[in-house]
Amino acid sequence: MELIHTVAWMKQVAADARRSDRLLGLVPTMGALHEGHLSLVREAQRQCSPVVVSIFVNPKQFGPSEDFQKYPRTLEADAATLDNLGVDYVFAPPPEEIYPPGFRTAVTVEGLSDRLEGRSRPGHFRGVTTVVLKLFEIVQPRFAFFGRKDAQQARIIRQMTGDLDLGTEIVVCPIVREPDGLALSSRNAYLSASDRRAATVLYRSLAGVRREIAAGERDVVHLLASVRKMIEAEPGVSLDYAEVVDADSLDPVIALRKTCCVLLAARVGSTRLIDNALIEPAGDSFNVTI
Ligand code: PAJ
Repeated sequence: MELIHTVAWMKQVAADARRSDRLLGLVPTMGALHEGHLSLVREAQRQCSPVVVSIFVNPKQFGPSEDFQKYPRTLEADAATLDNLGVDYVFAPPPEEIYPPGFRTAVTVEGLSDRLEGRSRPGHFRGVTTVVLKLFEIVQPRFAFFGRKDAQQARIIRQMTGDLDLGTEIVVCPIVREPDGLALSSRNAYLSASDRRAATVLYRSLAGVRREIAAGERDVVHLLASVRKMIEAEPGVSLDYAEVVDADSLDPVIALRKTCCVLLAARVGSTRLIDNALIEPAGDSFNVTI
């Protein structure tokens, strides 16, 4: 494995790989790698060679009162893990490589970026799309791999790559969970023992949605009422939002018809966690994937 710190060298390596007609795959991350990230890496290795994993804690996607400073940084361990997996390149630039002094440009996907996570975290997706566009320009991957854990992020990035004809295909991979259902997240490291127990309420409420839909419930207002009731009853957990939205437009839906998502965000102690489930029509019924 080769550890790359500069944009110039990353561009050179990626250009060489493209010239030799190899299928370049990119897995963008902020590091503190867990099995969720590694599942993307393995999927990338199934579909691509060489595979580039980027590790960059992107200051532009953190709000002023968010956890940029304390976000876990474990580059040495991450690089060793990726080396063991047989990853070809790790791109871990310092902030000034990505944002040199005088940097002024941003890219925004209008409409999809200002709701849900974007409403709670103003400017967040503008930071995400700006850095992902830069990474795509530097590496110019044929495929890029994202997790459904961040469903709105994946939707926005897919929109950006289409709108800007970036020529990168977006692959969205399943959510990896702990045995008790908690979605893996670098931020789970912040949870106290009691927070950690309470945090499973996100998964449990989504499992409740799956049960109710299997029993014939189709009324979104009713489904959301159950979710809110369950989350609000959990000590130490405060719900930020629970919505059912169309998977494509991210507009709220009132009845289940097309593919949609239940999107949740809640604060557990002082840690903000998100989770979601995908609801897909299947004959006269629906498949709910958590
Ligand atoms: P980060 O939070 O490090 O996540 C990197 C990728 O891993 C994202 O695509 C995310 O959806 C995926 N991921 C995280 N937890 C997962 C889980 N439990 N199961 C499956 N996939 C999971 O998302 C970001 O970084 C940044 O916004 C980034 C795209 C790198 C831009 O800075």
